[in-house]
Order: sequence, then structure tokens, then C-alpha cells
Amino acid sequence: MTSWVENAWYVASWDAGITSTPKARTICGIPMMFYRKLDRSVVAMRDACPHRMLPLSMGIKEGDSIRCKYHGLKLGPDGVAEEMPLRNDPVNKRICAETFAVHERHRFVWVWIGDKDKADPALIPDLWPCSADGWTFDGGYYHIACDYRLMIDNLMDLTHETHVHSSSIGQPEIMEAPLECEVKGDKVELWRWMSGIDAPPFWREALGKEGPVDRWQICQFLLPSSVMIDVGVAPVDAGATLANHDQGVRGMVVDCMTPETETSHHYFWGMARNFDINDVGFTARFKAQQGGVFAEDKVILEAQQQAIEQNPDLKMNSYSIDQGGVRARQIIARAIRAKEEQGA
Ligand code: FES
Ligand SMILES: [Fe+2]
Repeated sequence: MTSWVENAWYVASWDAGITSTPKARTICGIPMMFYRKLDRSVVAMRDACPHRMLPLSMGIKEGDSIRCKYHGLKLGPDGVAEEMPLRNDPVNKRICAETFAVHERHRFVWVWIGDKDKADPALIPDLWPCSADGWTFDGGYYHIACDYRLMIDNLMDLTHETHVHSSSIGQPEIMEAPLECEVKGDKVELWRWMSGIDAPPFWREALGKEGPVDRWQICQFLLPSSVMIDVGVAPVDAGATLANHDQGVRGMVVDCMTPETETSHHYFWGMARNFDINDVGFTARFKAQQGGVFAEDKVILEAQQQAIEQNPDLKMNSYSIDQGGVRARQIIARAIRAKEEQGA
């Protein structure tokens, strides 16, 4: 049994990360390769030649087809053989590499893991700020050597900001504000509302004003493995509420964790924002800054994964700060069980 949900879409890459040159990436334990056809649509194929299993990503592109680097078997973008290694051999159309359903949305290329006939784009997680009018979105990628669920725990628990990110977004008030959590179907929401506090340096600069602010952090977990965090500040006299807080500056931290193996994942991170959306310099500076913040998490989470492996006789414990991650894990486990019962 895997630790991830099947019959679900996972982010395979940022859209710009897939070109006409094959890219190898293991998704949910399956070695895949991705490339764009001449019409720019994306092909996802198992990264193993049907002949002797050399990775097809080492092959040579010929138009929309790929020729294996070892003995020259040529496969079309549907994975089906087009030419045999010996050119005079009749083409056996039963020779074929597995292909996967892909779909582009919210600046990402998504790949379907599970039964291909169930791949419905309507099931792609609704990361609406990544494509909404009045918002801009950019971000980056890290390979992280830990179970993807440790990153979900991390993102659904923002008390760690105080310690891990003390120089940028952390502030002691985070530890003092009450925490609320609610499960809505397959979603978990966890939030803090900090009223009348001093904005930390980043948010003070974004707001462009001195004075006390309301600050919020609203984390939302979405199956199979995304977290969006609604963050921002508004002047304390602007009347911002949990339901309506567009009075100040607002961002949506967007995180998609795609399992690679049981102990590693692909981490796609970014921020959508509704302020200064045409300021490309701000976007670039913020991306660099956010990359620095998430690099701090990478160090912590990879060390945590190692400690878990080195202490197999111990179990992690959950405190009140962990309720968001605990509930997200329960929803993941429930979805895994439901898929298994369907298949049984
Ligand atoms: S391994 Fe690919 S053609 Fe032989
Ligand atoms: Fe963090």
C-alpha cells in the first residue's frame, strides 16, 4: 500500500519546465518522461523502453516521436511502436510504452495517477488564485528528500514560522493567537486571526503603511496533496473579517507536493497576490525571498525524515498545533482506503 492517493491529479512540472526535450521525473513511484509535441501539447510516457528498458528520456526526438538511444526502437507520442530496431522488420503495433493522462491548468502540468479512464480535468484541485483576474502568480521548485506528508504537516502548522523563519515571516504573536480548525468534506481549514499587531517586515513593506494591522493565516488542505495559505494584513481600522479581507494586501501561498517515492517528493511552491500585480521586479524579488524561506523548511524536513528512519522504534506525537496536519492525513488515509475498497 502506498502513502498517496490514486485516481488523482498531481503536479508533474511548472508549465515552463516542459519543453520539446524529454524530461525525466518519477511521479508516485512511476518513472515518467515528459515532452511537448509540435502543437505544444504535453506527452507523458513511462520512462522505460519496451525493449530492454533503457530510459526513453535518453532517446532522440524525431518530430513528435521518440527514438530509443539503445537499439533505435521508435515510438509515437501515443507510446505505440512506429519503427523496429531492424528497419526491415514489420512494425509490431502491440509494442507500446504506457502513456499517462496530462492536463495543463493554473500554470502547472498535471498528470493522472490511477485508472486512465477516470482522468477527469474537473478533479484538478481548485487553485483559483493562480489563474484569477486581478491576481498574479509565480514560484519555484525544490526536490525534498522526505515523505510528502511531512511537508503537509509543516504547511498546516504555522507555529514553526516563529522558530524556523524568525528572520523573515515569523513573529511571536503567531504563538499567542488562537487556532481554529474545521473539516469540510475533503478539505481542512485551519486559521489564525491576529488583531491589532505590528506587521512583520515583509507585510509592513507590502502594505506601505505604519501602524497596527490585522494579520491572518488561513491554511487550506486540498486532496490529494495541495495546501493553499491565505495570508495578508489590513490596517486595523479597515474592518477586515475572516469572510472578507480584501481591504489590505493579500497573498495566497500555493504549495503542491507530488510524491516521488515514499521518502521524497517534488515541491512546487509559489505565491499568488492581488497587490502590485504588474510589478515584475516585485515578483522576482518575492520569488527569491520565498525560495529562501522554503529552503529553511527543506533543511528541517530532510533532517526530520532522517531522524524518523534512524529511530524506527519511536513514533511521532501530535499536539494541538498539529491538528491541521493530523486531519489532512486522516483525509488522505480515508481516500486511499476508499480506492482500495473500490478495487477489492
Ligand atoms: S532498449 Fe530501447 S531499443 Fe533496445
Ligand atoms: Fe516553513
